[in-house]
Amino acid sequence: MSLPPNPVNRKKLLNRIANVLESGIPSSMKKHMHDFRVVRNDRLSEHYYVLELECPQHLPEIFPGQFAEVRVDHSPLTYLRRPFSIYDVDIQANTLSLLIKKVGEGTVTLGRLKAGDFLNLVYPLGNTFSDPDGDEVLLVGGGVGIAPMLLLAKSLYAKGKIVDVLIGGRSRSDILEPHLYEPFTRNSYITTDDGSAGEKGIITQHSLFGKDVLNYSMIYACGPDPMMKAIAALAHLKGIPCEVSLENLMACGFGACLCCIVETKEGNKTTCVEGPVFNTRNLAGW
Ligand SMILES: Cc1cc2nc3c(=O)[nH]c(=O)nc-3n(C[C@H](O)[C@H](O)[C@H](O)COP(=O)(O)OP(=O)(O)OC[C@H]3O[C@@H](n4cnc5c(N)ncnc54)[C@H](O)[C@@H]3O)c2cc1C
Ligand code: FES
Repeated sequence: MSLPPNPVNRKKLLNRIANVLESGIPSSMKKHMHDFRVVRNDRLSEHYYVLELECPQHLPEIFPGQFAEVRVDHSPLTYLRRPFSIYDVDIQANTLSLLIKKVGEGTVTLGRLKAGDFLNLVYPLGNTFSDPDGDEVLLVGGGVGIAPMLLLAKSLYAKGKIVDVLIGGRSRSDILEPHLYEPFTRNSYITTDDGSAGEKGIITQHSLFGKDVLNYSMIYACGPDPMMKAIAALAHLKGIPCEVSLENLMACGFGACLCCIVETKEGNKTTCVEGPVFNTRNLAGW
């Protein structure tokens, strides 16, 4: 089929094709591209900030663990979109938030956004966490890896689950907005490598893991790979299922470039489409 030469007719035809394609997709799986308006850019510390972004249309349903691919404007070196977990959603305000750590050109540029600026997002991408079989769960977040855990805590709490959260970081300033979990959790534990907040030591050394029996029916974790691997090993040792949200490097975000491949026991999978959430029992070498 050739496209009509007239640009107006061509646009109409392309829109029709898009509508036909979209009509067959369940609404929960549809992806959107919107220019969000920055409502606020809250600087949490030198390295971390939260962007609250208002959607120009009604926000679609967003599940915990899903992420957005963000276009970084005014940054000539940042050619590719950058992936960020959806940190929070406020349905009343029609906003979503991203919790971001400055690590390079893209995240530093986004950190300069001001209220009233616009930001283009493709979202919601990726899968979500599974529901646990039992009632008690533990959420573990290391540094900015805590980002997908807030929506998860809210969602599990709404389903009547008893939620504990363990937040770890190098130092006090890496423990990000711990108060936000209080309404949705039974216990919230903190560890820092230097002992400036909570228990001193790395996250897997927390006294919680010293208990002989843990009643959790699932442990969910996100953070640096070595941390997630150590949490998975502890979970396996105690016979508790464990799901992790992987933060592999990504480019396209929709399964085309294969740069985010992860090796599983069922073969290679894309982290952006078949993840980012995986059961650690299915990950090869975990
Ligand atoms: C599904 C997913 C969800 C994510 N959620 C968040 C989030 O909620 N908040 C947040 O701050 N970050 C998150 N990240 C990581 C974030 O995408 C990267 O930090 C960001 O792309 C870096 O962009 P940059 O241009 O600032 O840095 P670059 O200049 O691209 O890189 C700077 C340095 O950071 C390293 N780096 C880049 N991406 C990653 C990564 N994915 N993991 C580890 N190191 C990386 C590079 O190797 C390099 O050393 C997520 C990543 C994925 C895949
Ligand atoms: S980022 Fe391109 S396939 Fe996952």
